[in-house]
Amino acid sequence: MMTVSVEAFFHSSTSTLSYVVFDMAGGHCAVIDSALDFDLSSGVVCTEFADTIIEYIRSNQLTLDWILETHAHADHLTAASYIRSKLGGKIGVGRHIVDVQAAFKPLLGMDDLNISDYSEFDHYFEDNEEFAIGLLTATVLETPGHTSDSVTYVVNHNAFIGDTLFMPDFGSARCDFPGGSAKQLFDSIQRIYSLADSTRLWVCHDYQPGGRELKYQTTVGESKTDNIHIKGETPETEFVEFRTERDKQLNVPKLLYPSVQVNILAGQLPDGFIKIPISKAF
Ligand SMILES: [Fe+2]
Repeated sequence: MMTVSVEAFFHSSTSTLSYVVFDMAGGHCAVIDSALDFDLSSGVVCTEFADTIIEYIRSNQLTLDWILETHAHADHLTAASYIRSKLGGKIGVGRHIVDVQAAFKPLLGMDDLNISDYSEFDHYFEDNEEFAIGLLTATVLETPGHTSDSVTYVVNHNAFIGDTLFMPDFGSARCDFPGGSAKQLFDSIQRIYSLADSTRLWVCHDYQPGGRELKYQTTVGESKTDNIHIKGETPETEFVEFRTERDKQLNVPKLLYPSVQVNILAGQLPDGFIKIPISKAF
């Protein structure tokens, strides 16, 4: 089996992990979950973080085949379109991104977005679809719950799980965005837990609870034993009740609306302005 190499990049302002996945022998790679730098107060967008990923790919003389999203992120802006403009490659996403687009289009007044023409992304993955990263074969598992479009990319014994699970000491992701479902997240986690215990899980965020050092890779076995929200034997009703109650206490992410309106367009920035819908609480 071809050896998979993984290089992680930590975007500290959003606690996001981006990955470059590659086969050293073949020299082809994929970027998973990239990020732009965005300052909410000033509206300034810059590419310092994405440029470090681009520089890594260039300096290792890798060919970029894919720029992958595990889901439409609600807390950072993807750099997918920017990276494609510099290195080529195809932007891939789970097919249910169209459901996220449909949910947010009216909220954000995105009248120009034509959901049915499937033109924002280069490829919309089906469940269980296989694709090549050079000599590697990757498989897509639909793992909805945090969002309806969430997918996990499995490459040999590595699973890039987006925001389904976090490191065992941080638990699981919220399910209260439009299209989210604690019940679906439970089922998706069971799907991940059905992989071999030795499967390495690469998370999309690490919030470093208690100020601990950065960690972003666990295993199926470790998560089943130690995850503080959902162990291997945790019953569905217990998890769904816990997750639903917890989500009621969480604040809206600071970058929700800027992130979603850019991310459902694969990282293309809107002309001129970012929109934030208002709701009158009086
Ligand atoms: Fe997320």
